[in-house]
Amino acid sequence: MSANTETIGDMLEYGQKQFEQSDLYFGHGTDNAWDEAVYLLSSVLDLPPNADRSLLDNSVSIDDQKKIKALYQRRINERVPAPYITKKAWFCSLPFYVDERVIVPRSPIAELIYNQFQPWCPESPNKILDLCTGSGCIGIACAYAFEKAQVVLSDISADALEVTAINIVTHDLHSRVTAIESDLFSAFDGSDHNSFDLIVSNPPYVDADDLAKMPDEYAHEPDLALASGDDGLDFTRRLLREAANYLSEQGLLIVEVGNSSVALEKAFPQVPFTWLEFTEGDGGVFVLTRTQLRQYAECFGLSSDES
Ligand SMILES: C[S@@+](CC[C@H](N)C(=O)[O-])C[C@H]1O[C@@H](n2cnc3c(N)ncnc32)[C@H](O)[C@@H]1O
Repeated sequence: MSANTETIGDMLEYGQKQFEQSDLYFGHGTDNAWDEAVYLLSSVLDLPPNADRSLLDNSVSIDDQKKIKALYQRRINERVPAPYITKKAWFCSLPFYVDERVIVPRSPIAELIYNQFQPWCPESPNKILDLCTGSGCIGIACAYAFEKAQVVLSDISADALEVTAINIVTHDLHSRVTAIESDLFSAFDGSDHNSFDLIVSNPPYVDADDLAKMPDEYAHEPDLALASGDDGLDFTRRLLREAANYLSEQGLLIVEVGNSSVALEKAFPQVPFTWLEFTEGDGGVFVLTRTQLRQYAECFGLSSDES
């Protein structure tokens, strides 16, 4: 590329080609080189995510060409996921501030939120907990989906919660959405017992083998957000033991475990996990009711007295 009269289409083709030649991994908001170029270019030109293709013929100023190329170069040289460069990610069609203190939002749980967790969630939940909230994307999107619900966002990472706080303010949801620093439920008090109608979580669940093989892009995300022991289930085991205490009588636990679903089924063969279906791919997300959590408490390592 050398001419001064480059169009948006030219700049996107240029980015696509550069990315394809650089063996990048796509999995943080896009899944191909063209969309990745669109993502970065749109941030410089301030275009909405659904910008019209008729814009492809618009010319790009020399100054903006330089800025766009610099972003492309950073994406290639540092293998940094595009949303960390633009400091913005989309989840449930909502914008979220992100940086390296949280993972880039990409949970399939978005599809469940769009459908208000139907048919699993029978009525509008009054109180929702987004456990392991990171940027706050799941809980904040739930607050939009259930306009009357109180939503609690929790995470063990004080750094992540600084990002959560930015997103609560940006979405102007502080009257209904609060955040708490907690290792699982350790900072929750008696008033939280039996109080959540829905606990939804995308916890760390990457097993040791997968962690060792992850593309360089994932090294920019916090370890704490991904790793969960040898079989990816360290966190989920604890959650299964404790969640029932915090759910209301009709409450539901919805948890993403990705491909650690295989290890989960193996670890708890007696437990009838319901695996939710997604329009695209196998989400590795299960639902259990509070009643089931109580019923199978012994499988999760609780004595019948504790359950
Ligand atoms: C996979 S990320 C999910 C972030 C966000 N929910 C999303 O979908 O983008 C997992 C999050 O769990 C948090 N986490 C890890 N261990 C935790 C624990 N013991 N208690 C609470 N949060 C934890 C991490 O800090 C991280 O933000």
